[in-house]
Amino acid sequence: MPAPVILVTGASRGLGACMARQLLSAPISAKVVLVARGEAGLKQISDEFPGQVEYLAGDLASDEVNESAVKLAIEKFGKLDGIIFNAAVLDPIAKVGKADMAAWRKLYDINFFSLVATMKIALPYLKKTKGKVVFISSGAAHHYFYGWGAYGSSKAATDHLAATLAAEEPDISSVSLDPGVMDTEMQVALREKHGSEMAAQEHDRFLKLKSEGGLSPPEVPGNVAVNLVLKARPEVNGKAYRFDSPEFAAYV
Ligand SMILES: NC(=O)c1ccc[n+]([C@@H]2O[C@H](COP(=O)([O-])OP(=O)(O)OC[C@H]3O[C@@H](n4cnc5c(N)ncnc54)[C@H](OP(=O)(O)O)[C@@H]3O)[C@@H](O)[C@H]2O)c1
Repeated sequence: MPAPVILVTGASRGLGACMARQLLSAPISAKVVLVARGEAGLKQISDEFPGQVEYLAGDLASDEVNESAVKLAIEKFGKLDGIIFNAAVLDPIAKVGKADMAAWRKLYDINFFSLVATMKIALPYLKKTKGKVVFISSGAAHHYFYGWGAYGSSKAATDHLAATLAAEEPDISSVSLDPGVMDTEMQVALREKHGSEMAAQEHDRFLKLKSEGGLSPPEVPGNVAVNLVLKARPEVNGKAYRFDSPEFAAYV
């Protein structure tokens, strides 16, 4: 069978880099298109898997970058079988009364409008392959942390987008996955940079999760996302679940 072709956003580090390596390794041996701003992390993966990787170093806040990523998959690999929308930012953390509108808009460009822009371009190719799309969401989509309005609402919008696509596009599969709390740089920033903008007990919870070994390695939710992008079944179409929920047990 020809190798699947999968686009993974935010693949320069953390969960995205982990899922890219899982897809590239045997037995999947996929071809991937990787996008992030930081070229070093993307090049490193490309060097590890010669001939299997095309990458684009660019800011997903730009519609052109989203369009170019899809075109790269088609031009270099001839098709697109799936997308994992993983890139996201947590900043700005600040209560609504202190919202910096430009910063909220920038977060939405990355965390949400990038997904719409990519899907608009990718849909004809995904319909041809009966492709599968996984949206990396967050518990913050429905758990309301003090100061997290921009991030949390963008993830709630992401869950909604997966459900909307399921209603509109019966030929493809769209599913949203909350990866839990993972040991990545996003958590480092949360612990080290955002304490003063968060509620003390909420910030303490994240400090404690780290000190008590309660953070997931990204490989665990990553494996579920990879299995979903390859073989999600109709019963999860349009749904949003945590990676360790019973509904995703078949994808562990
Ligand atoms: N870590 C957690 O505990 C946690 C919990 C729930 C949900 N999540 C979700 O899981 C996903 C992965 O998070 P992570 O923890 O792996 O975060 P991370 O370590 O901060 O990695 C985020 C990735 O997104 C990329 N990215 C950010 N802004 C971008 C932009 N403007 N254009 C292109 N790429 C951009 C980053 O690359 P560059 O900086 O090189 O561009 C990086 O590769 C995110 O959707 C996050 O919301 C994480």
